[in-house]
Amino acid sequence: MGNCTESSNLSLSAPTEAPAYAGASSVTITTMLTTQVWIGFIFDIILIVFALRFMWGMMRLGKISPFIRTRMPVAEEVAEAFGTLPEGSVLIDPGCGDGRVLFAIAKRNPHTTFIGIELRLLPYILALLEKRKHPDLNITFIHGNFFDQDLSSATHIYTYLYAHVMDSLLPKLLKELKPGTTLLSVDFPFSKKQTEHVTTLKSAEQLKLGRTLYVYRF
Ligand SMILES: C[S@@+](CC[C@H](N)C(=O)[O-])C[C@H]1O[C@@H](n2cnc3c(N)ncnc32)[C@H](O)[C@@H]1O
Repeated sequence: MGNCTESSNLSLSAPTEAPAYAGASSVTITTMLTTQVWIGFIFDIILIVFALRFMWGMMRLGKISPFIRTRMPVAEEVAEAFGTLPEGSVLIDPGCGDGRVLFAIAKRNPHTTFIGIELRLLPYILALLEKRKHPDLNITFIHGNFFDQDLSSATHIYTYLYAHVMDSLLPKLLKELKPGTTLLSVDFPFSKKQTEHVTTLKSAEQLKLGRTLYVYRF
């Protein structure tokens, strides 16, 4: 009996200890769950921030063309089309990339002032490096958004931007440009401005890009 009592005491004592053990475990589990909930919450916030940044980037891209350089034969034809610029001319390339078209035009017009505006860092640096090779040419490169720059000093403008960017830029050009300013655009016309002249470039036969030159007068 005594044995029996002992064993029954033992068996009775087990449940009284169990809740103590189970209590400690549930605290640990609760802590772990709370930590997981917090980690999940922070992770969700990070995801939302990234998603919003991505959407904002895509919205901005609506106003930004990718960095696709004008092919050199096209750049030479554009330079030919601008010809010899009158004294005191200022030619601006909004979205100048590595500045190759400006260099092509500037080599024919060493006394003209040239301004290239470029948003992306890499092409801007490439333009600056190229400029070091031509200290005689009057070319200034600005690292920035052309929508934020004053374009009113231009007498001539060269563009190679997407059609929707051209249309976004038109109100600014109409507001800022002096009457008589000439704009030459490769491949992408304004949808709401009359061209003065349209030319098919000679290099069109060899190249997939760079076929048409649209000439506008403001
Ligand atoms: C199609 S590339 C033409 C580059 C150069 N004009 C050429 O003909 O080789 C267009 C360039 O415009 C730049 N760009 C687009 N939107 C811009 C903006 N809002 N401000 C400044 N640069 C911009 C891009 O980074 C890209 O280098």
